[in-house]
Amino acid sequence: MSVGPCICRKTTLGESICMSKQIPLVIWGASGHALVVADIVRLQKSYEIIGFLDNMNPHRHGTEFCGARILGGDEQLERLLGEGINHILLGFGDCRARMELTSYLETKGFNLPTAIHPHAVVARDVILGAGTVVAAGAVINPGTRIGKSVIINTAASVDHECSIADAAHICPGVRLAGCIRVGRATQIGVGAIVIEKITIGSESVVGAGTIIVRDVPDRVVVYGNPPGIAVKQI
Ligand SMILES: CC(C)(COP(=O)(O)OP(=O)(O)OC[C@H]1O[C@@H](n2cnc3c(N)ncnc32)[C@H](O)[C@@H]1OP(=O)(O)O)[C@@H](O)C(=O)NCCC(=O)NCCS
Repeated sequence: MSVGPCICRKTTLGESICMSKQIPLVIWGASGHALVVADIVRLQKSYEIIGFLDNMNPHRHGTEFCGARILGGDEQLERLLGEGINHILLGFGDCRARMELTSYLETKGFNLPTAIHPHAVVARDVILGAGTVVAAGAVINPGTRIGKSVIINTAASVDHECSIADAAHICPGVRLAGCIRVGRATQIGVGAIVIEKITIGSESVVGAGTIIVRDVPDRVVVYGNPPGIAVKQI
């Protein structure tokens, strides 16, 4: 197994010394969101992406993707563990799948690191769960707790004292005011706005551009703007 380049720093005498090796990591997913995750991982410099997994498109196995190879599907997991590669990130948007696979991977013995873009702003006391991805331009304010394998996507803002449960996806440009609760595996669509102290249930979808001014129950799709919010059970 090839391990990536050393992370080096200069000593006070000007010598370059090796601090550590990059940790090999696999990204599960090989489409648009995987590109974003891979970019963040490479900017963080702590991990070397040794490949991608793609269960959906077997014809892509063995092909190049984003500077590495698509190694195969989930049949590769045992081999990876056997080779000591036990760091993995989920690089796809399907919230329910991220929720289920997070516990599956942890049970198997994988570690899911966090991936935080260097141009994201995350307050010092924010708690981020394993496998959570924070994209460029996102802002997460103090007192907020974020679960496992959550996506806080490009330029989304999550204000003070919010609680975002496992595998939720806060899409690009979303604005969450303070003290909002978002349930597990819920997607808040691009550019949606949620006023303060709202609770949004689990496994729900908030449509792009929707303005949420009332609580949203579990397992519904909510879209359109007040007063004509449409709700349908999923
Ligand atoms: C809300 C949403 C889930 C509905 O999807 P859907 O059930 O497939 O709905 P349809 O596309 O069949 O649209 C149904 C109707 O709702 C309207 N509609 C769909 N999404 C809407 C939205 N966000 N706001 C207002 N109206 C919307 C459609 O124009 C259509 O209207 P019509 O019946 O008059 O033609 C989807 O449109 C959406 O907004 N998804 C979020 C996408 C997103 O943010 N992706 C982020 C990727 S990072």
